[in-house]
Amino acid sequence: MTPQLNARGDVAVLVPAAGAGLRLGPGGPKALRLLAGEPLLVHAIRRVAAAPSVRMIVVAAPKAEVEAVRDLLAPVAPVTVVAGGAERQESVSLALAAVPEEIGIVLVHDAARALTPPQLIESVAAAVRSGHPAVIPALPVVDTIKEVGPSPSGELVLGTVDRSVLRSVQTPQGFRHDVLAAAHATAADAHTDDAGLVEKAGLPVTCVPGSELAMKITRPLDLVLAEALLHVT
Ligand code: CTP
Ligand code: MG
Repeated sequence: MTPQLNARGDVAVLVPAAGAGLRLGPGGPKALRLLAGEPLLVHAIRRVAAAPSVRMIVVAAPKAEVEAVRDLLAPVAPVTVVAGGAERQESVSLALAAVPEEIGIVLVHDAARALTPPQLIESVAAAVRSGHPAVIPALPVVDTIKEVGPSPSGELVLGTVDRSVLRSVQTPQGFRHDVLAAAHATAADAHTDDAGLVEKAGLPVTCVPGSELAMKITRPLDLVLAEALLHVT
């Protein structure tokens, strides 16, 4: 049976899935690449649809794959599929345009974070609902981080960054609908995340604990790790 979304939910989830997946190597758009026999996008949408607050899901698909993605997801969950843009930010804006004003909370969630648990979607949504205009899931940084500069013989270490104040940021990133809409309407820099746009507007961005299962599948090794993680989720 196709999972129905909660008609009384207050959350729309935008799922940018229009990227090429260049870092994953040859094999077509990343969202359609298979993990244990199913496209990454199917894994991602199944988990989003399982989050009880979610009333609407909007997927930004590669332009040439809009119909194929509609057919692919029809048995998984009720989704709206729009054509994505050349940059991730544009794909998010195009998806946001499909969300009706009365839905108060909008989450932006990369299809590439295909194993993100529904609980993380709920915790981000709950933090927005409790009054935070923008919320991101974040994890402590595990590696030692060095600042470097160029030198004639390679790179030279300039210093060691204090890791305790650094965080790795994941998706879903959650926003009050009006806050995300205003941030995208004034966005100038294409190389920032959605929370970065809100930061530039001077609004507070609040962290909640992230999840290792929300890892972004970027390189071939990540697919191997994700396949192993499927057995623990
Ligand atoms: N994305 C998108 N539209 C774009 C570019 C990216 O919707 N024009 C989406 C991707 O599909 C992905 C998410 O944004 O779900 C995060 O991007 P990333 O992990 O960089 O994916 P790709 O851009 O596909 O990968 P790459 O950068 O290796 O080409
Ligand atoms: Mg990319």
